[in-house]
Parts: sequence; structure tokens; C-alpha cells
Amino acid sequence: MKKKIVIANWKLNGNKNFVKEFIHNINSENQKFFKNTKVIIAPPIIYIKYMSKKIHNKKISFASQNVDYNYQGAFTGEISPNMINEIGAKYIILGHSERRKNHFENNLLIAKKFFSVKKNKLIPILCIGETQEEKEKNLTKNIIQKQIDEIFLHCGNNAFHNTFIAYEPIWSIGTGENASPDDVNKIMKFIKNYIIKKSLYKKINLNLQYGGSVSPNNIKRIIEKKYIDGVLVGSGSLQYKNFLKIIQKCNV
Ligand code: 13P
Repeated sequence: MKKKIVIANWKLNGNKNFVKEFIHNINSENQKFFKNTKVIIAPPIIYIKYMSKKIHNKKISFASQNVDYNYQGAFTGEISPNMINEIGAKYIILGHSERRKNHFENNLLIAKKFFSVKKNKLIPILCIGETQEEKEKNLTKNIIQKQIDEIFLHCGNNAFHNTFIAYEPIWSIGTGENASPDDVNKIMKFIKNYIIKKSLYKKINLNLQYGGSVSPNNIKRIIEKKYIDGVLVGSGSLQYKNFLKIIQKCNV
């Protein structure tokens, strides 16, 4: 059976003590515990190098929460994919709705980042999803399609091979109101079929994550769905015990 994938997005949370405690907890855990689950952690970028050196569990990988599409030059404040590669992260979260909203990232900018990430042999975790208003207007599929199409347009027909898509309905992020697992399963099926239809390869390695108020209480019902390969967890990943319970319940 395919391993379930749990990704932790810490967002702008944590500090030195938090990181040290997290590392201590993970290192004290029996590694067998992670047997059937793949875990990826996206802390604020400055902690990645330290964490990747100190965490003994080699099954845990790291992701950056953002990147610039330029490789070098006069781009004050930015970090390139090759720099992220050098500090020990393999994955990059792109297009999170908080970046779309707070940093005005649009589909084209995200597609440029996606291209750059793949060119540097890193793996994008592309976040997509609709607002409450769009959901109410029955526009979910249109919105998702647009977000995906821009990637195809910019990166070609094989864009999604070896990538992750995180479907995160915006109304479910940080609200305690997760989307119904049945609805998510349908959307995931739609995403998978849509991408396969537009791809050159008919067998592509694409992982579909659900994100939005994932907790130890709802993970089981989410993860048992056929088209859901894993989850992207925000606040539920910040308390170690909670996070561990989520992993444990995926470890079937
Ligand atoms: P919450 O799990 O806090 O709802 O956040 C989800 C998310 O934005 C993960 O990227």
C-alpha cells in the first residue's frame, strides 16, 4: 500500500526553544512508529538546516514555505531554489492561499516559481483551493482548473510528474471546519483525472494532499479516502502530541 504523507506547515511559528523541543521529541520516538507514513516538515526556513542535521529519523524530510523564481541577482530579501537545495530541503510549498492573499501572488507568479523549482530538481507542493464565496457560487472546479492550467501553460505537459498538489479550501484553513472527506475525495478525483488528461504521460507520479483544519479527530475519515494521499497540516502540527497522533492514525 502507498505510504500516506503528512506534511507540517508551521507557517510563521516557532522559535529556538520550540525547535529544540520538537527535535528532542522526534528523536525520542521509536522510528518504527513512522513505518508507513512519510513525514515532511516545513518550518520557517532559517530552522531547516539545523533541524535536518539534528533529527536522526532519516524518513523525515524538509520543505520550504516559499521561494523566489530567480536564481541570483539584485532581488533583495529573496531566496533561490538552489539555496534551498543546499540547506537540506527537497520540497517547496508554492501558492499557499496566505501568500496569494497577503503577498499578492497570482497564478502566473506561482507558475514561474513552479518552473524554477522543478528545474532545480526540487519538488513543488502546489496549493490550490477556492474561497467560501466561490464555493457558494459552485465555482470550485473552475478555480482549481485555472490554478492548474497556468502551470501547464508555463511548464508544459509533464509539469505535474513527481509533484504534490495540496487542495486547501480557503474557508477550511484555520477555522476548525474541515471540508467533508467525501467532497474532498470527489475534488481529488477530478484533479487527478484532469491532470492525467492533459499530461503526456498517462501514468504520472502525483500526490494529492488535503489541507484545512486537519486534526487527530478527523484525520482517520480523511485519510481513508481513495484519492487522498496525505494531508497538509497547519496548527495541528504545532503541538507535538497532536502531530504525532495525526501521524499515528495515518500509519495503517
Ligand atoms: P490549518 O491546519 O491550521 O487549518 O492550516 C492548514 C494550512 O494552511 C496548511 O498549509
